[in-house]
Amino acid sequence: MELDLTRFSPAERCTLQLRALYEQAGYRKFRCARFEEYSLYQQNQKFLPDAQVITFTDLDGKLRAIRPDVTLSIAKNAQPAPGECKRYYYTEQVCRPSRESHTFAEISQMGLECIGAVDAARQAEVVRLAVDSLATLGTRTFLEVSHMGYLTGLLDTLQVDAAARPRLLELLRDKNAHELRQAALSAGLDADGSDALCALLSLHGPFETALAEARARCRCQAQTEALDELQALYAGLGKDAATVRLDLSLAGDMEYYNGLVFTGYAAGAPRAVLKGGRYDLLARRFTPDTCALGFALYLDELERLAPSAEAEPDTWLNIALPKGRLGDKAYGLLAKAGYGCDEDYNETRKLVVENPEARVRYFLVKPSDVAIYVEHGAADIGIVGKDILAESGADVYELMDTGMGKCRMCVAGPKDFVDDESRALRVATKFVSIAREHYEALGRDIDIIKLNGSIELAPILGLSDVIVDIVETGTTLRENNLAVLEEFMPISARFIANRASYQFKYRQLTELLAKMKEALKV
Ligand code: PRP
Repeated sequence: MELDLTRFSPAERCTLQLRALYEQAGYRKFRCARFEEYSLYQQNQKFLPDAQVITFTDLDGKLRAIRPDVTLSIAKNAQPAPGECKRYYYTEQVCRPSRESHTFAEISQMGLECIGAVDAARQAEVVRLAVDSLATLGTRTFLEVSHMGYLTGLLDTLQVDAAARPRLLELLRDKNAHELRQAALSAGLDADGSDALCALLSLHGPFETALAEARARCRCQAQTEALDELQALYAGLGKDAATVRLDLSLAGDMEYYNGLVFTGYAAGAPRAVLKGGRYDLLARRFTPDTCALGFALYLDELERLAPSAEAEPDTWLNIALPKGRLGDKAYGLLAKAGYGCDEDYNETRKLVVENPEARVRYFLVKPSDVAIYVEHGAADIGIVGKDILAESGADVYELMDTGMGKCRMCVAGPKDFVDDESRALRVATKFVSIAREHYEALGRDIDIIKLNGSIELAPILGLSDVIVDIVETGTTLRENNLAVLEEFMPISARFIANRASYQFKYRQLTELLAKMKEALKV
């Protein structure tokens, strides 16, 4: 009986096709145990995406964990002999905490790993297989490639302290130029060093053009070598090179990846569908002097793929606009930039208004939901207060600080407040994550009281010792006999974009961004 592949879900279809692809390329199936001894994850925590794993005591009294990751299990078991390269593929479930569902979620992954003697040819083979894996999805796809050596080479030359690196990497990953400069200066870099770091954000696009620009900015041998490796890789890709782009700000996790890194996007899927790279440091925890390279496809992300017929570049930009004062200001700016609509959204109960000529569509949403719409790809871009963005932890690009809606995140309390360090500090706030992170960094134990508004009442009524809240004019605090005790985060409205939309609507998105910047100057 012939199998009718159209009756399968995209993830099922992809699993079957990729299995054939990987086996043909000589990869052997690796079957992982569902549980591992917890010590494996405890000892290698820095290589895990999240420190939280589900543990249980097994019948033999050993503490075991439900597998949060496949690569560690394969790296532990592979044990290649000198000169040997072990090549495996797998289809497995991993169990990780999910920020959205506030519980652990099962994630289906299919991927491959090369462990042992990974030479240039092997590396090219893996990247080709990543491109071919994306091609089986039957829609428009891109593979963004970078090399950690280019980034670490620059950070080493600029003598950036190890402690400052994770924050800089995070800002690079978010394409957040406005905060990157500030963070670089705070990390002790001079203006020239900060410029060099910020320039990384412009090193992306078609491979050859971006590579030439990156060459012109090389500051050390390690950076030149990283680009040589990328160039040789690109030259060997042949027809597969068409969907490969360079993005030297693509900052994989420094603890994890030490060389080539890549991320795959598919039209219709709001997040990356494939991630991979070179992870020699992890592999060497189990086999000395070994090398490793691999990638994983996130099968759950494939359910929303656009069929190839619809995969033509959709030139409409969907914008999440916060209802209220900030939204009015943001809309004013967009209208000034040429993206206004005939219909006045304040006069209608409609939740969607559009301008077919400028090919933009506005979704009128609650301010606290903007980042969620953008992260999930329901909107391509949005304008959101930094307070809400930081609190949501949304995984989006933060492309511009509009400077609108300026205020500060503060700790406030009675004017004569003295902290009693013998007990936990009671903090009332709408911003639970921001408050927790702030006090964690200070090492101060707190009890959080989550409120939804009129936060200032809490210390007045003795419900809390202090509050963490935004302060704009300071009037509310003053009129309630409270004072700012500490100011720790400048807030303003940020222009954000969905990571996949940035790939597939790049031209429209950057054009809008440039026009907005112009409109802000006038
Ligand atoms: C915000 C914030 C403060 C106030 C600060 O409240 O929570 O209460 O604005 O502004 P000010 O410094 O200019 O006085 P919002 O108006 O959003 O209402 P809420 O109390 O319901 O959160």
